[in-house]
Amino acid sequence: MKTTVAIIGAGPAGLLLGQLLLRQGIDNIVLERRSPQYVLSRIRAGVLEQGTVELLRQAGADARLRTEGIVHHGFELVLGERRERIDLRGHGGHGAVTIYGQTEVTRDLMQARAAAGAVTVYEAEDVSLHDLDGANPWVEYQHQGQRVRLDCDYIAGCDGFHGVSRAAIPAGVLREYERVYPFGWLGVLADTPPVNEELIYARHARGFALCSMRSATRTRYYVQVPAGERVEDWSDARFWDELRARLPAEVAARLTTGPSIEKSIAPLRSYVVEPMQYGRLFLAGDAAHIVPPTGAKGLNLAAGDVGLLAALFAQAARDGSSAPLLRYSELALKRVWKAVRFSWWMTTMLHRFPSEDAFDRRLHEAELDYLLASPSGRDTIAENYAGLPLELPAAAATPEAADAVEAISATAGG
Ligand code: APR
Ligand code: PHB
Repeated sequence: MKTTVAIIGAGPAGLLLGQLLLRQGIDNIVLERRSPQYVLSRIRAGVLEQGTVELLRQAGADARLRTEGIVHHGFELVLGERRERIDLRGHGGHGAVTIYGQTEVTRDLMQARAAAGAVTVYEAEDVSLHDLDGANPWVEYQHQGQRVRLDCDYIAGCDGFHGVSRAAIPAGVLREYERVYPFGWLGVLADTPPVNEELIYARHARGFALCSMRSATRTRYYVQVPAGERVEDWSDARFWDELRARLPAEVAARLTTGPSIEKSIAPLRSYVVEPMQYGRLFLAGDAAHIVPPTGAKGLNLAAGDVGLLAALFAQAARDGSSAPLLRYSELALKRVWKAVRFSWWMTTMLHRFPSEDAFDRRLHEAELDYLLASPSGRDTIAENYAGLPLELPAAAATPEAADAVEAISATAGG
């Protein structure tokens, strides 16, 4: 088998990249380890930046999102009993976010891909990547008892944090940056009406809490729990009691509870690998970086990566040269680090750390107080939450860059 771009992973990053490439006439095959049902059973965040919505439009997968997505122009930061609304239509902000579950984004992309007649191989086992630093990389996998070889011009590693793509890069090439937080989020999905029209991010002495939603009848709530906590120890009743205890009295009084339809604990981590490329392999989404969910940047960063990557692939196809792709990592990382900073900051400000002392708490209170009292402070929060612009490539790549690609290919291919 042969394709232009072999895409590893059918999460939102891989599927969105596949669609953006197809729309530009670049053929691709997606290889996914799991079944479609498994992929659709994962519950993740649900806040889309305008840039992500725009990319889904370009991918031809925005029809349902336009009718079912809920547009929010603000969110609430709650500090104990104090409620502060952040208006996303401030000076720097893009103005709005769309509430629409990542699971639904994935479903829409799957449907768009099926309608385009493009190939996705689900339950592709033992995927391995070869000759990444040559001109003719290839991928091998096992499917329905057969070994299959897929030749390609490029490989996109969209296989998440635990995938094979990043691990296929030789030792010594990558530098990792990591922060692991000493707590996780216990999340509950329920068919109950949202407690508030907009999202509530709450800082409380008992720990962080988040009130989010999927629709007018479905909610997603989270409470911070210590690292290592077991989901079996959290009955629905215990969860609702804890959530209520962390919300302002007037909000807690309005909370409608109900049986959970999903309950899970996710650890919190910040992680970035540099560079996000090696030879003809390009990493995108969780394969290259992880952010804590505070601020809902994970999916939006993945979308930004593949939007950029698709634009560079298109430019490379037009130029008949790989040179534009050389800038992928450098351009992508600028935006990645800003989102890593913002989600680290929101996490630090709003969570209770086991190691913190009274001095730390006063500093965090003072910082939040200062920002909330200042119009530019509020704008800074709004601008980051709504999403920073994509850094797209400026001009066509230089001949020097083209030479560099040839050099990489020649060294490795020989
Ligand atoms: N071979 C093939 N597929 C693989 C392999 C492998 N060895 N390893 C993992 N995969 C698949 C996973 O099964 C998954 O479907 O790659 C896909 C990666 O998808 P995601 O984990 O959803 O990552 P990504 O597409 O980058 O989406 C980023 O997901 O975790 C959230 O916060 C994150 O919202 C962000 C989004
Ligand atoms: C969610 O709805 O699951 C959600 C919303 C906002 C976040 C994180 C998760 O910051």
